[in-house]
Amino acid sequence: QPLIGIIVAMQEELEVVLQSLQQPQAHQRAGMTFYQGIYAGSPVVAVICGVGKVNAALCTQILISEFHTQRIINIGVAGGLHPEIQPGDVVIADTLMQHDMDLRPLGLARGHFYRMDTHAFPSDPMLLQWARQACADLKNHRFFVGRIVTGDQFIASPELAQELHQHFDALACEMESASIAQVCFLNHIPFICIRSISDNANTGAHMDFAQFTPIAAANATTLLQNMIPLC
Ligand code: ADE
Repeated sequence: QPLIGIIVAMQEELEVVLQSLQQPQAHQRAGMTFYQGIYAGSPVVAVICGVGKVNAALCTQILISEFHTQRIINIGVAGGLHPEIQPGDVVIADTLMQHDMDLRPLGLARGHFYRMDTHAFPSDPMLLQWARQACADLKNHRFFVGRIVTGDQFIASPELAQELHQHFDALACEMESASIAQVCFLNHIPFICIRSISDNANTGAHMDFAQFTPIAAANATTLLQNMIPLC
């Protein structure tokens, strides 16, 4: 059975995994706690990576190099950018880009990397299919499949949200997944990101964010319970 790395954003989501983790073992690396055990019948390592791209990238490389995880699933919250997407909805990433990578003075398009084969990291097609299946069971919440953009910025302005949506054709924004995707891409490890929408990345974002955290945690439980046995 492949070992699955689960990177979650919040304590609430980790609790959900830990409650059902059999034979749990905790390991400390780089200030993060990695919980190894059996979840929904499969061997997993679950961890909170912290906020932002550096934390997320470091955490991902540790999962791959030290724990030898063969698949990586990232669960968390995101700000909705598409006008139809509401808090509580779920977005599965099919491609991921870093919106704060900006080498325009060197002649590169926004979000494009210097001397790298790609700028939009794709999710693994099998994991994407299993994520769709897992999402079909979400009660009272819609799900969307499309691009998620990542940057070291909490987006809380309607102008910026609209601009990211239009420029990158992105459904949602958050602060980790495209850096996890980049590390997985470089290591040839299948990756998927599934995010619950906590806010609309506008002026009320910080309030919605607090209110929708429990819903996001509930969505994460359903998704992981449904998806892990498929992986
Ligand atoms: N995660 C959840 N909401 C977000 C937002 N508005 N901007 C960045 N990351 C987020």
